[in-house]
Amino acid sequence: MTVLLTGGAGYIGSHTCVEFLKDGYDIVVVDDLSNSNIKAVERVQQISGREFPFYEADVRDEAKMEEICAAHDIGAVVHFAGFKAVGESVRKPLEYYDNNINTTMTLCRVMKKRDIRRFIFSSSATVYRGDNPMPLTEAAQTGCINPYGWTKYMCEQILSDMAVAQPDWAVCLLRYFNPIGAHESGLIGEDPSGIPNNLMPYISQTAIGRLEKLHVYGDDYDTEDGTGIRDYIHVVDLARGHVAALRYCEQRTGTVAVNLGTGIGTSVLEMVRAFENASGVTVPYVIDARRPGDLPVCYASAEKAARLFGWKAEKNLADMCADTWRWQKNNPKGYA
Ligand code: NAD
Ligand code: WQD
Repeated sequence: MTVLLTGGAGYIGSHTCVEFLKDGYDIVVVDDLSNSNIKAVERVQQISGREFPFYEADVRDEAKMEEICAAHDIGAVVHFAGFKAVGESVRKPLEYYDNNINTTMTLCRVMKKRDIRRFIFSSSATVYRGDNPMPLTEAAQTGCINPYGWTKYMCEQILSDMAVAQPDWAVCLLRYFNPIGAHESGLIGEDPSGIPNNLMPYISQTAIGRLEKLHVYGDDYDTEDGTGIRDYIHVVDLARGHVAALRYCEQRTGTVAVNLGTGIGTSVLEMVRAFENASGVTVPYVIDARRPGDLPVCYASAEKAARLFGWKAEKNLADMCADTWRWQKNNPKGYA
Protein backbone atom coordinates (compact mmCIF):
# COMPACT_ATOMS: atom_id res chain seq x y z
CA MET A 1 0.00 0.00 0.00
CA THR A 2 1.13 3.56 -0.68
CA VAL A 3 0.84 5.94 2.26
CA LEU A 4 0.70 9.72 1.83
CA LEU A 5 2.51 11.48 4.67
CA THR A 6 1.83 15.21 4.94
CA GLY A 7 4.45 17.10 6.95
CA GLY A 8 6.77 14.17 6.32
CA ALA A 9 9.86 16.40 6.35
CA GLY A 10 9.12 17.47 9.93
CA TYR A 11 10.35 16.03 13.20
CA ILE A 12 7.79 13.26 13.78
CA GLY A 13 6.96 12.87 10.09
CA SER A 14 10.55 12.13 9.03
CA HIS A 15 10.90 9.40 11.68
CA THR A 16 7.56 7.95 10.65
CA CYS A 17 8.63 7.83 6.98
CA VAL A 18 11.57 5.63 8.05
CA GLU A 19 9.31 3.21 9.93
CA PHE A 20 6.74 2.87 7.11
CA LEU A 21 9.54 2.23 4.60
CA LYS A 22 11.12 -0.30 6.95
CA ASP A 23 7.78 -2.09 7.19
CA GLY A 24 7.59 -2.41 3.39
CA TYR A 25 5.07 0.33 2.62
CA ASP A 26 5.55 2.72 -0.30
CA ILE A 27 5.31 6.36 0.68
CA VAL A 28 4.68 9.76 -0.89
CA VAL A 29 5.62 12.86 1.10
CA VAL A 30 4.12 16.34 0.87
CA ASP A 31 5.60 19.22 2.87
CA ASP A 32 5.81 22.95 2.21
CA LEU A 33 9.07 23.11 4.22
CA SER A 34 7.63 25.98 6.29
CA ASN A 35 9.11 24.40 9.42
CA SER A 36 11.55 21.84 8.03
CA ASN A 37 14.46 21.24 5.72
CA ILE A 38 14.72 19.17 2.52
CA LYS A 39 17.79 17.52 4.05
CA ALA A 40 15.48 15.58 6.37
CA VAL A 41 13.90 13.95 3.31
CA GLU A 42 17.31 13.13 1.82
CA ARG A 43 18.40 11.57 5.09
CA VAL A 44 15.27 9.44 5.34
CA GLN A 45 16.25 8.08 1.90
CA GLN A 46 19.80 7.55 3.14
CA ILE A 47 18.66 5.66 6.27
CA SER A 48 16.14 3.49 4.45
CA GLY A 49 18.08 3.03 1.23
CA ARG A 50 14.82 3.75 -0.62
CA GLU A 51 13.70 6.55 -2.91
CA PHE A 52 10.20 8.00 -2.78
CA PRO A 53 8.34 10.93 -4.34
CA PHE A 54 8.55 14.23 -2.47
CA TYR A 55 6.34 17.23 -3.28
CA GLU A 56 7.06 20.68 -1.92
CA ALA A 57 3.47 21.87 -1.64
CA ASP A 58 0.94 23.38 0.73
CA VAL A 59 -1.63 20.77 1.74
CA ARG A 60 -4.32 23.48 1.48
CA ASP A 61 -3.69 23.58 -2.29
CA GLU A 62 -6.54 21.26 -3.24
CA ALA A 63 -5.76 21.08 -6.96
CA LYS A 64 -2.17 20.07 -6.18
CA MET A 65 -3.28 17.46 -3.63
CA GLU A 66 -5.72 15.99 -6.16
CA GLU A 67 -2.95 15.84 -8.75
CA ILE A 68 -0.65 14.06 -6.28
CA CYS A 69 -3.31 11.56 -5.24
CA ALA A 70 -4.20 10.92 -8.88
CA ALA A 71 -0.55 10.23 -9.73
CA HIS A 72 -0.14 7.65 -6.94
CA ASP A 73 -2.48 4.94 -5.75
CA ILE A 74 -2.82 6.29 -2.21
CA GLY A 75 -4.35 3.87 0.31
CA ALA A 76 -3.98 5.94 3.49
CA VAL A 77 -3.22 9.46 4.63
CA VAL A 78 -1.06 10.20 7.68
CA HIS A 79 -1.50 13.89 8.43
CA PHE A 80 1.32 15.63 10.34
CA ALA A 81 1.33 18.95 8.48
CA GLY A 82 0.39 21.89 10.65
CA PHE A 83 1.66 24.52 13.04
CA LYS A 84 2.43 23.36 16.58
CA ALA A 85 3.74 26.17 18.81
CA VAL A 86 1.30 26.83 21.64
CA GLY A 87 2.54 30.37 22.47
CA GLU A 88 2.59 31.42 18.81
CA SER A 89 -0.98 30.15 18.40
CA VAL A 90 -2.14 32.62 21.06
CA ARG A 91 -0.52 35.49 19.11
CA LYS A 92 -1.59 34.24 15.64
CA PRO A 93 -4.88 32.36 16.08
CA LEU A 94 -6.07 32.92 12.50
CA GLU A 95 -2.92 31.41 11.01
CA TYR A 96 -3.30 28.37 13.27
CA TYR A 97 -7.00 27.81 12.60
CA ASP A 98 -6.44 28.36 8.88
CA ASN A 99 -3.47 26.01 8.49
CA ASN A 100 -4.41 23.24 10.89
CA ILE A 101 -8.10 23.04 10.02
CA ASN A 102 -7.95 23.73 6.30
CA THR A 103 -5.20 21.17 5.69
CA THR A 104 -7.44 18.57 7.35
CA MET A 105 -10.57 19.66 5.44
CA THR A 106 -8.72 19.71 2.10
CA LEU A 107 -7.45 16.18 2.69
CA CYS A 108 -10.98 15.02 3.56
CA ARG A 109 -12.38 16.47 0.31
CA VAL A 110 -9.62 14.90 -1.79
CA MET A 111 -9.97 11.55 -0.01
CA LYS A 112 -13.72 11.54 -0.61
CA LYS A 113 -13.27 12.35 -4.28
CA ARG A 114 -10.60 9.70 -4.78
CA ASP A 115 -12.12 7.08 -2.48
CA ILE A 116 -9.22 7.00 0.00
CA ARG A 117 -10.60 5.59 3.22
CA ARG A 118 -7.91 5.59 5.92
CA PHE A 119 -6.86 8.67 7.87
CA ILE A 120 -4.30 8.81 10.69
CA PHE A 121 -4.28 12.14 12.46
CA SER A 122 -1.61 13.77 14.64
CA SER A 123 -3.61 14.84 17.66
CA SER A 124 -2.25 15.71 21.07
CA ALA A 125 -2.65 15.16 24.80
CA THR A 126 -3.42 18.87 24.78
CA VAL A 127 -7.06 18.02 23.87
CA TYR A 128 -7.58 16.79 27.46
CA ARG A 129 -8.79 19.23 30.09
CA GLY A 130 -6.32 20.02 32.84
CA ASP A 131 -8.48 18.78 35.72
CA ASN A 132 -8.64 15.07 34.80
CA PRO A 133 -7.22 12.40 37.13
CA MET A 134 -3.95 10.77 36.00
CA PRO A 135 -3.16 8.64 34.10
CA LEU A 136 -5.21 10.10 31.24
CA THR A 137 -7.39 7.52 29.53
CA GLU A 138 -9.03 8.27 26.20
CA ALA A 139 -12.32 8.66 28.08
CA ALA A 140 -10.98 11.67 30.03
CA GLN A 141 -12.78 15.01 29.64
CA THR A 142 -11.66 17.06 26.63
CA GLY A 143 -11.36 20.85 26.34
CA CYS A 144 -8.54 23.24 25.51
CA ILE A 145 -6.93 26.46 26.74
CA ASN A 146 -5.17 27.77 23.61
CA PRO A 147 -5.87 28.06 19.85
CA TYR A 148 -3.38 25.31 18.98
CA GLY A 149 -5.22 22.88 21.25
CA TRP A 150 -8.59 23.90 19.81
CA THR A 151 -7.36 23.21 16.27
CA LYS A 152 -6.59 19.62 17.31
CA TYR A 153 -9.91 19.31 19.12
CA MET A 154 -11.82 20.66 16.09
CA CYS A 155 -9.97 18.43 13.62
CA GLU A 156 -10.81 15.42 15.79
CA GLN A 157 -14.49 16.42 15.57
CA ILE A 158 -14.36 17.03 11.80
CA LEU A 159 -12.73 13.64 11.20
CA SER A 160 -15.17 11.82 13.50
CA ASP A 161 -18.08 13.42 11.61
CA MET A 162 -16.51 12.40 8.28
CA ALA A 163 -16.25 8.79 9.45
CA VAL A 164 -20.00 8.84 10.22
CA ALA A 165 -20.86 10.31 6.81
CA GLN A 166 -18.47 7.90 5.05
CA PRO A 167 -19.13 4.59 6.83
CA ASP A 168 -16.30 2.83 4.97
CA TRP A 169 -13.68 5.23 6.40
CA ALA A 170 -11.29 4.30 9.22
CA VAL A 171 -9.98 7.25 11.24
CA CYS A 172 -7.31 7.03 13.95
CA LEU A 173 -6.91 10.08 16.20
CA LEU A 174 -3.49 9.62 17.77
CA ARG A 175 -3.02 11.71 20.91
CA TYR A 176 0.71 12.14 21.35
CA PHE A 177 2.23 12.88 24.74
CA ASN A 178 5.76 14.41 24.71
CA PRO A 179 7.84 13.12 21.78
CA ILE A 180 11.61 13.48 22.22
CA GLY A 181 14.74 11.67 21.01
CA ALA A 182 16.01 11.04 17.51
CA HIS A 183 16.74 8.19 15.10
CA GLU A 184 19.62 6.08 16.39
CA SER A 185 21.63 6.85 13.23
CA GLY A 186 21.98 10.45 14.41
CA LEU A 187 20.94 11.55 10.89
CA ILE A 188 17.45 12.89 11.65
CA GLY A 189 16.12 14.60 14.75
CA GLU A 190 14.32 17.65 16.09
CA ASP A 191 15.51 20.96 14.63
CA PRO A 192 13.40 23.76 16.11
CA SER A 193 13.72 27.19 14.52
CA GLY A 194 14.71 29.93 16.96
CA ILE A 195 14.83 29.39 20.71
CA PRO A 196 13.19 26.06 21.57
CA ASN A 197 9.90 26.09 23.48
CA ASN A 198 10.17 22.49 24.59
CA LEU A 199 12.28 20.99 27.32
CA MET A 200 14.42 18.41 25.48
CA PRO A 201 15.72 20.63 22.64
CA TYR A 202 16.38 23.33 25.23
CA ILE A 203 18.46 20.89 27.28
CA SER A 204 20.40 19.56 24.30
CA GLN A 205 21.13 23.04 22.90
CA THR A 206 22.34 24.07 26.36
CA ALA A 207 24.57 20.99 26.52
CA ILE A 208 26.12 21.79 23.11
CA GLY A 209 26.70 25.41 24.18
CA ARG A 210 24.17 27.16 21.89
CA LEU A 211 22.19 28.28 24.95
CA GLU A 212 23.64 29.43 28.25
CA LYS A 213 21.44 27.63 30.75
CA LEU A 214 18.13 25.87 31.13
CA HIS A 215 15.29 27.74 32.84
CA VAL A 216 13.30 25.29 34.96
CA TYR A 217 9.73 26.57 35.04
CA GLY A 218 8.81 26.16 38.69
CA ASP A 219 10.05 23.92 41.48
CA ASP A 220 7.05 24.42 43.76
CA TYR A 221 4.59 21.99 42.16
CA ASP A 222 3.11 19.24 44.29
CA THR A 223 5.52 16.63 42.86
CA GLU A 224 8.43 14.79 44.45
CA ASP A 225 11.12 17.34 43.45
CA GLY A 226 8.67 20.21 42.83
CA THR A 227 9.18 20.29 39.03
CA GLY A 228 6.63 19.42 36.34
CA ILE A 229 6.04 15.83 35.30
CA ARG A 230 5.40 14.68 31.71
CA ASP A 231 5.16 11.47 29.71
CA TYR A 232 8.15 11.61 27.33
CA ILE A 233 8.06 9.13 24.45
CA HIS A 234 10.88 8.24 22.05
CA VAL A 235 10.01 9.57 18.58
CA VAL A 236 10.90 6.20 17.00
CA ASP A 237 8.40 4.43 19.30
CA LEU A 238 5.87 7.10 18.37
CA ALA A 239 6.62 6.56 14.68
CA ARG A 240 6.08 2.80 15.05
CA GLY A 241 2.76 3.60 16.73
CA HIS A 242 1.59 5.02 13.36
CA VAL A 243 2.46 1.81 11.53
CA ALA A 244 0.55 -0.16 14.18
CA ALA A 245 -2.39 2.25 13.86
CA LEU A 246 -2.53 1.81 10.08
CA ARG A 247 -2.53 -1.97 10.46
CA TYR A 248 -5.51 -1.56 12.78
CA CYS A 249 -7.26 0.77 10.27
CA GLU A 250 -6.77 -1.80 7.51
CA GLN A 251 -9.12 -4.16 9.38
CA ARG A 252 -11.81 -1.76 10.59
CA THR A 253 -13.99 1.27 9.93
CA GLY A 254 -15.12 4.11 12.19
CA THR A 255 -13.17 6.45 14.47
CA VAL A 256 -10.89 5.61 17.35
CA ALA A 257 -8.92 7.96 19.62
CA VAL A 258 -5.76 6.43 21.06
CA ASN A 259 -3.02 7.82 23.33
CA LEU A 260 0.58 7.34 22.25
CA GLY A 261 2.58 7.64 25.45
CA THR A 262 4.59 5.42 27.77
CA GLY A 263 2.48 5.72 30.91
CA ILE A 264 5.59 6.85 32.80
CA GLY A 265 5.99 10.33 34.29
CA THR A 266 9.39 12.08 34.46
CA SER A 267 10.14 15.39 36.20
CA VAL A 268 12.19 18.22 34.68
CA LEU A 269 15.07 17.61 37.07
CA GLU A 270 14.98 13.84 36.47
CA MET A 271 15.29 14.63 32.77
CA VAL A 272 18.27 16.92 33.37
CA ARG A 273 20.02 14.17 35.35
CA ALA A 274 19.22 11.50 32.75
CA PHE A 275 20.59 13.74 29.99
CA GLU A 276 23.77 14.45 31.95
CA ASN A 277 24.28 10.72 32.48
CA ALA A 278 23.76 9.91 28.81
CA SER A 279 25.94 12.73 27.48
CA GLY A 280 28.57 13.13 30.17
CA VAL A 281 27.95 16.89 29.91
CA THR A 282 26.72 19.10 32.77
CA VAL A 283 23.56 21.05 31.99
CA PRO A 284 23.55 24.35 33.89
CA TYR A 285 20.09 25.44 35.03
CA VAL A 286 18.26 28.05 37.11
CA ILE A 287 14.88 27.78 38.74
CA ASP A 288 12.39 30.28 37.28
CA ALA A 289 8.73 31.07 37.78
CA ARG A 290 6.09 28.62 36.57
CA ARG A 291 5.19 28.97 32.88
CA PRO A 292 1.55 30.11 32.50
CA GLY A 293 -0.74 27.34 31.27
CA ASP A 294 1.53 24.47 32.42
CA LEU A 295 0.04 21.50 34.25
CA PRO A 296 1.89 20.08 37.25
CA VAL A 297 1.56 16.49 36.05
CA CYS A 298 0.50 14.87 32.77
CA TYR A 299 0.93 11.24 31.73
CA ALA A 300 -0.94 8.72 29.64
CA SER A 301 -2.68 5.48 30.15
CA ALA A 302 -1.05 3.48 27.35
CA GLU A 303 -3.43 0.55 27.81
CA LYS A 304 -5.73 1.20 24.83
CA ALA A 305 -2.86 1.35 22.31
CA ALA A 306 -1.57 -1.96 23.66
CA ARG A 307 -5.03 -3.54 23.50
CA LEU A 308 -6.11 -2.27 20.07
CA PHE A 309 -2.82 -1.92 18.19
CA GLY A 310 -0.64 -4.42 20.06
CA TRP A 311 1.82 -1.51 20.36
CA LYS A 312 3.76 -0.22 23.30
CA ALA A 313 6.76 2.05 23.70
CA GLU A 314 9.99 0.07 24.01
CA LYS A 315 12.68 2.69 24.53
CA ASN A 316 13.53 4.18 27.92
CA LEU A 317 14.65 7.58 29.14
CA ALA A 318 18.35 6.71 28.73
CA ASP A 319 17.71 5.83 25.04
CA MET A 320 15.79 9.08 24.52
CA CYS A 321 18.66 11.13 25.99
CA ALA A 322 21.48 9.20 24.25
CA ASP A 323 19.77 9.46 20.85
CA THR A 324 19.00 13.16 21.29
CA TRP A 325 22.63 13.80 22.21
CA ARG A 326 23.98 11.83 19.21
CA TRP A 327 21.77 13.90 16.87
CA GLN A 328 22.73 17.18 18.59
CA LYS A 329 26.46 16.38 18.62
CA ASN A 330 26.53 15.28 14.96
CA ASN A 331 24.38 18.25 13.89
CA PRO A 332 25.18 21.12 16.28
CA LYS A 333 23.22 23.57 14.11
CA GLY A 334 20.50 21.12 13.12
CA TYR A 335 20.09 20.69 9.34
CA ALA A 336 21.58 24.15 8.63
P1 NAD B 1 7.06 19.83 12.62
O1 NAD B 1 6.80 21.30 12.55
O2 NAD B 1 8.45 19.36 12.72
O3 NAD B 1 6.37 19.10 11.38
C1 NAD B 1 5.24 19.62 10.72
C2 NAD B 1 5.59 19.70 9.24
O4 NAD B 1 4.46 20.18 8.52
C3 NAD B 1 6.75 20.64 8.93
O5 NAD B 1 7.70 19.95 8.15
C4 NAD B 1 6.11 21.78 8.13
O6 NAD B 1 6.99 22.30 7.17
C5 NAD B 1 4.91 21.11 7.54
N1 NAD B 1 3.76 21.97 7.24
C6 NAD B 1 3.14 22.87 8.03
N2 NAD B 1 2.09 23.41 7.40
C7 NAD B 1 2.02 22.82 6.18
C8 NAD B 1 1.15 22.94 5.06
N3 NAD B 1 0.10 23.77 5.08
N4 NAD B 1 1.39 22.18 3.97
C9 NAD B 1 2.45 21.34 3.93
N5 NAD B 1 3.30 21.18 4.96
C10 NAD B 1 3.09 21.91 6.06
O7 NAD B 1 6.19 19.27 13.84
P2 NAD B 1 6.21 17.82 14.52
O8 NAD B 1 6.72 17.99 15.90
O9 NAD B 1 6.80 16.83 13.64
O10 NAD B 1 4.64 17.57 14.64
C11 NAD B 1 3.92 16.86 13.66
C12 NAD B 1 2.45 16.87 14.03
O11 NAD B 1 2.27 16.30 15.32
C13 NAD B 1 1.85 18.27 14.10
O12 NAD B 1 0.53 18.21 13.58
C14 NAD B 1 1.81 18.57 15.58
O13 NAD B 1 0.79 19.47 15.92
C15 NAD B 1 1.55 17.19 16.16
N6 NAD B 1 2.02 17.05 17.54
C16 NAD B 1 3.33 17.33 17.84
C17 NAD B 1 3.78 17.21 19.16
C18 NAD B 1 5.19 17.56 19.54
O14 NAD B 1 5.45 17.76 20.73
N7 NAD B 1 6.14 17.64 18.61
C19 NAD B 1 2.89 16.76 20.14
C20 NAD B 1 1.57 16.47 19.80
C21 NAD B 1 1.15 16.61 18.49
C1 WQD C 1 7.77 19.95 29.52
C2 WQD C 1 8.10 20.30 30.97
C3 WQD C 1 7.75 22.62 31.47
C4 WQD C 1 10.88 24.09 28.77
C5 WQD C 1 4.07 21.10 24.84
C6 WQD C 1 2.74 21.53 24.29
C7 WQD C 1 1.91 20.34 23.93
C8 WQD C 1 2.67 19.37 23.03
C9 WQD C 1 4.08 19.13 23.46
C10 WQD C 1 1.93 19.55 20.76
C11 WQD C 1 7.09 21.25 31.60
C12 WQD C 1 9.22 22.28 31.58
C13 WQD C 1 10.01 23.29 29.48
C14 WQD C 1 11.88 24.81 29.46
C15 WQD C 1 11.10 23.85 31.52
N1 WQD C 1 2.76 19.83 21.68
N2 WQD C 1 10.12 23.18 30.85
N3 WQD C 1 11.97 24.65 30.81
O1 WQD C 1 4.43 21.86 27.87
O2 WQD C 1 4.27 19.35 28.22
O3 WQD C 1 3.87 20.28 26.00
O4 WQD C 1 4.73 20.35 23.83
O5 WQD C 1 0.84 19.06 20.81
O6 WQD C 1 0.75 20.80 23.34
O7 WQD C 1 2.07 22.30 25.27
O8 WQD C 1 6.16 20.27 26.86
O9 WQD C 1 8.60 20.32 26.60
O10 WQD C 1 7.34 22.51 26.69
O11 WQD C 1 7.57 21.14 28.77
O12 WQD C 1 11.21 23.77 32.75
O13 WQD C 1 12.67 25.56 28.88
O14 WQD C 1 9.35 21.01 30.99
O15 WQD C 1 7.37 23.53 32.46
O16 WQD C 1 6.99 20.89 32.95
P1 WQD C 1 4.63 20.49 27.36
P2 WQD C 1 7.48 21.10 27.15
